[in-house]
Amino acid sequence: MFSPTGAMVAEARAAGGAVGAFNLITVEHAEAIVTGAEAAGLPVVLQISENAVRFHHGRLAPIAAAARSIAESATVPVGLHLDHVTSDELFDQAAAHGFGSAMYDASTRPYQENVAATAAAVRRAHAHGLWVESELGEIGGKDGAHAPGVRTDPEEAAAYVAATGVDALAVAVGSSHAMQARTARLDHRLIARLHVAVPVPLVLHGSSGVPDDELVRAVHAGMAKVNIGTALNSAFTGAVRSTLGDDATLVDPRRYLATARSAMADTVAGSLRLLAPHVTAAT
Ligand code: G3H
Ligand code: ZN
Repeated sequence: MFSPTGAMVAEARAAGGAVGAFNLITVEHAEAIVTGAEAAGLPVVLQISENAVRFHHGRLAPIAAAARSIAESATVPVGLHLDHVTSDELFDQAAAHGFGSAMYDASTRPYQENVAATAAAVRRAHAHGLWVESELGEIGGKDGAHAPGVRTDPEEAAAYVAATGVDALAVAVGSSHAMQARTARLDHRLIARLHVAVPVPLVLHGSSGVPDDELVRAVHAGMAKVNIGTALNSAFTGAVRSTLGDDATLVDPRRYLATARSAMADTVAGSLRLLAPHVTAAT
């Protein structure tokens, strides 16, 4: 069933866990994410990024409608989130297309501009009942806020949240987007300090590159929403490559998309189990 992201995150946090949020590109991704969540018996968030919308020729409606419909027919709570939005025009479409939440990403702008644009976006979104996530960017940073060396300062984060009114904050604590190897090391002391300083839920981006035990520790330290994208695409593409490699005569896309979908579902179920409350970190 469809569920608002904000309520799901609050509930997971209250129980000591985090909500897994997975980026979808195709309908098969959405189906796999929900199948994985149903297998784990846990809530999940479907995320559509601005980049994914661009892939769909800039049209939000068809892929959003498919995701929303898949969410509604699920047997577990499923949220719908518009991710990493830099365009005001796209951001303002979120509520009308059935999203419960959206990320306004002004992280590449100078701090004061980020604050002003995000505060205005939050006001507009709240008028439509949306839950808004945003992030602090590295001023002038080439790789963005989630490059491995970048860190979010707890005091600045608290001031940023107060000035913008955001409902959740993506923080830079050692992860980095689009990693294919799971070698990221998180700054757990910083996560704990951010958890104390920042009055809204914390979001971990670039989680594909974070090993299992690090993810579990991050949730214990206070992460409330964990974003995963690349790991699904690795599973998808690996399955397609292997299925096509096994049979040079295969032309029916359903055959290789089915293997891709099931590989993604397994990845989702495994990740969600790690983020659930009461999972113990390996030491
Ligand atoms: O917002 C999306 C996530 O941060 C995905 O990052 O593709 O590195 O897992 P990832
Ligand atoms: Zn991200």
